[in-house]
Amino acid sequence: MSIKIFLVFLLCCIPSVLSTRDDEITLLKIKKQLGDPYGLRWWVKGFDYCNASANVAPDYSGITCTSTGRVESLILQNLDVTKPFPDGICSLTEMDYLEIYKIPGLYGPIPSCFTKLYNLFRLSVTYTSLSGAVPDFSGRIKPLNLTTINLSRNQLSGTIPPSFGSLPKLNYLDLSLNRLTGTIPPALLSTSTPSLALANNNLTGELPKCYESVNFWVIDVGGNRLSGDASFLFGKQKAAVNIVLANNDFEFDLSNVEFSDNLYGFDLSHNKIYGKIPKSFASAADLWFPNLSFNRLCGELPQGGNMGRFDASVFANNACLCGYPLQPCSNWAPASAPAPVSRPAF
Ligand SMILES: *[C@@H]1O[C@H](CO)[C@@H](O)[C@H](O)[C@H]1NC(C)=O
Ligand SMILES: *[C@@H]1O[C@H](CO)[C@@H](O)[C@H](O)[C@H]1NC(C)=O
Ligand SMILES: *[C@@H]1O[C@H](CO)[C@@H](O)[C@H](O)[C@H]1NC(C)=O
Ligand SMILES: *[C@@H]1O[C@H](CO)[C@@H](O)[C@H](O)[C@H]1NC(C)=O
Ligand SMILES: *[C@@H]1O[C@H](CO)[C@@H](O)[C@H](O)[C@H]1NC(C)=O
Repeated sequence: MSIKIFLVFLLCCIPSVLSTRDDEITLLKIKKQLGDPYGLRWWVKGFDYCNASANVAPDYSGITCTSTGRVESLILQNLDVTKPFPDGICSLTEMDYLEIYKIPGLYGPIPSCFTKLYNLFRLSVTYTSLSGAVPDFSGRIKPLNLTTINLSRNQLSGTIPPSFGSLPKLNYLDLSLNRLTGTIPPALLSTSTPSLALANNNLTGELPKCYESVNFWVIDVGGNRLSGDASFLFGKQKAAVNIVLANNDFEFDLSNVEFSDNLYGFDLSHNKIYGKIPKSFASAADLWFPNLSFNRLCGELPQGGNMGRFDASVFANNACLCGYPLQPCSNWAPASAPAPVSRPAF
């Protein structure tokens, strides 16, 4: 009788237990590579890593599994470690979601095996000290379903690899707050309304001209050393809800730009933008958070429409803007005019 029970146990239970342990060795290797951090203290031999409710610690690193017991998602966060990137992560080949968040002691390069995690759907590695090159997805094996890449707030350097353009579903790319240099490659994102954030790097040159035909949802390239024309990002038919070009050297005429009714905010402050503020500024239905300060704009502000939403700081420090909420234009009359509220920025 007891033999029979034992056989039933062998036949049904052991195989299912084994099949949910496929990634255990890898997880324990990752833990060791990270130096056994306290935040992963429940990662021990034989632990039930597929049971999400058993694996939630106060610091919220966590694991979920596929139906066959492979790691499907992995979140590592707020770990107190001083270690290089644990390349054991590259062996979690069924993983579709990886998030590494706030591990400031994680340093060194992101290993290239990382780009072969072909099941990845979302990837987020932020607030670390990882340095070196941005991962290059130009290899033959790559995550063709990848929709979101967030590598902001690390210390990555070098140029932006054009190979992001070879990921057909990539819809969101955030490389902000790194140390990237060089120009912005064309065709980085090929979905219909992508979002691109490259803010606070050290990028130079002009925006690729082909971005005129990209219908961005959000584009943020603020805080770089970009130059030239960027007026083509705007337009009556554009989907963009937010456009950030602040703190660059963009230089273009704003007079004929049309602001769409989808636009909720834009920040063009601290550039060399000239010309007048166009009429559509006052009529763009959803516009609540514009900023045109610290440029070289001149002329009378449009009146009516939205203008009651905006305070003077939106227009401050331009060449010679006037009209509500700035000083009346009559104050700008010839040489004897009193000093304007908004002084030229140069
Ligand atoms: C998962 O873990 C919780 C908490 O430890 C436990 O109550 C539950 O029975 C476990 N579920 C399975 C399927 O093992
Ligand atoms: C990509 O997504 C499709 C559709 O959801 C799915 O059938 C396919 O298995 C996925 N491919 C990979 C490599 O994950
Ligand atoms: C990307 O990561 C940063 C830092 O963790 C975060 O602030 C931002 O919201 C993330 N973007 C998305 C779309 O998740
Ligand atoms: C950007 O480049 C300049 C000139 O090479 C350098 O002085 C500056 O420190 C860089 N800034 C960042 C944030 O890397
Ligand atoms: C506009 O930008 C300037 C410069 O960065 C800032 O001082 C000001 O507060 C901003 N105004 C608004 C309304 O965002």
